[in-house]
Amino acid sequence: MTEDASPKKELAAIKGTKDILPGEVEKWQALEGLARETFELYGYRELRAPLLEATELFEKGTGETSDIVTKEMYTFTDKGGRSLTLRPEYTPSVVRAIIEHRLDLQPEPMRYYYMGPMFRYDKPQKGRYRQFHQVDIEVFGEKDAAVDAEVIEMADTLLRKLGVEERETLVNSVGCRACRPAYSQALRAEAQKRKNDLCPDCQRKAETNPLRIFDCKVESCQTVARSFPLIQDFLCGECISHFNKLLLFLNQYRIIYRVEPRLVRGIDYYTKTTFEIVSGHLGAQNALLGGGRYDDMMKEFGGPDICGIGFAMGMERVLAVAELAPAKRKSLYLAYLGEEAKKAGLELARFLRANGVECLVEFKDRGMKAHFGRANKLEAAWVLIVGEDEMKKGRFGLKEMATGRQVDGTRDELLTILRGE
Ligand code: HAM
Repeated sequence: MTEDASPKKELAAIKGTKDILPGEVEKWQALEGLARETFELYGYRELRAPLLEATELFEKGTGETSDIVTKEMYTFTDKGGRSLTLRPEYTPSVVRAIIEHRLDLQPEPMRYYYMGPMFRYDKPQKGRYRQFHQVDIEVFGEKDAAVDAEVIEMADTLLRKLGVEERETLVNSVGCRACRPAYSQALRAEAQKRKNDLCPDCQRKAETNPLRIFDCKVESCQTVARSFPLIQDFLCGECISHFNKLLLFLNQYRIIYRVEPRLVRGIDYYTKTTFEIVSGHLGAQNALLGGGRYDDMMKEFGGPDICGIGFAMGMERVLAVAELAPAKRKSLYLAYLGEEAKKAGLELARFLRANGVECLVEFKDRGMKAHFGRANKLEAAWVLIVGEDEMKKGRFGLKEMATGRQVDGTRDELLTILRGE
């Protein structure tokens, strides 16, 4: 392909999806490495679930009235006539896996993490993609509000390690089965009164789940929602106590937070704690991560009565504000002259790679000048020179590109130099 060639339109990447190329992928790897390292320090283990799930899993889990289920799922019928969905989020998959494998009967703590692609059919814009990536963590079987705080503290620690300096932590409680119905009723009554000021979508939400009106981005709906009653005035004793304990533990961790009474989040399963960490540098799609407690999902799926809490971080959004400087690779370029030197060079490369040295070998007949030109372009740290002379002597030339220093030595001597010993 020539430089300005591009694939035929029908072969181009799908709108809302992106290739992550070398040069950029190193930042992704750094984020993944730091996330893994952080979560494992808190006793989390990786759990990998499939990308494809039965559509009912999200209808039941994410919730029939959420925007995700009503508008955004990639759902199709497979050749067996079954309705499948590319996961729009990860939480229901983890709950399903626990029930399916009876992980609740294992002695290990139920703390899981995962990183991977999710799919939502929304209008692509800055920070919003159709295939995007989440780092997700979930904890099960911990009722204590201390775990809610620990989860938020862990998210905060990871963001700090990633160099995300400016961030704001928002927390709220959305109540539980006991107190939410009265709140929903009060909201419904209010929404009915203001029905004419709501968009058609929210008019429908006023009937099905008025809580979801808080998620609407239409300005007039947001104005109406600002006058709605607040959940705080409806919380039961247990939810108030849980929320107060959460705030105490957050204080103990010295996490600066703001209580945001309208933070209901766009998903139906939340009970008690909800939270988000937002960035002022991201524009409209400002949530770096969001999560909360979901104490009823496992039971509603037909599993044991085990509570859960977790969050998911949007990797694209975090990378847009993270300060990551992945270490520069130090590679060695093999410059060989002729067929015999090529054979000897390949043996050398094999030896060096077996000893942890990254070697670039390109199978092109090049003269020495062209080799050096290419090594420069590739920003190789070293050039290893293998010609007839070198083969005869069993000593090879090694040039350090940054300094111009050139030495010769046996393969073992060169390995010592390359390792900086
Ligand atoms: P969510 O708020 O839907 O929650 O998504 C979590 C994060 O994923 C968002 O804060 C954002 O950073 C990122 N994100 C969501 N949609 C997109 C998109 N279209 N493009 C780019 N980034 C996006 C959940 O998914 C819940 N499962 C979180 C959770 C885990 N709750 C309990 N456990």
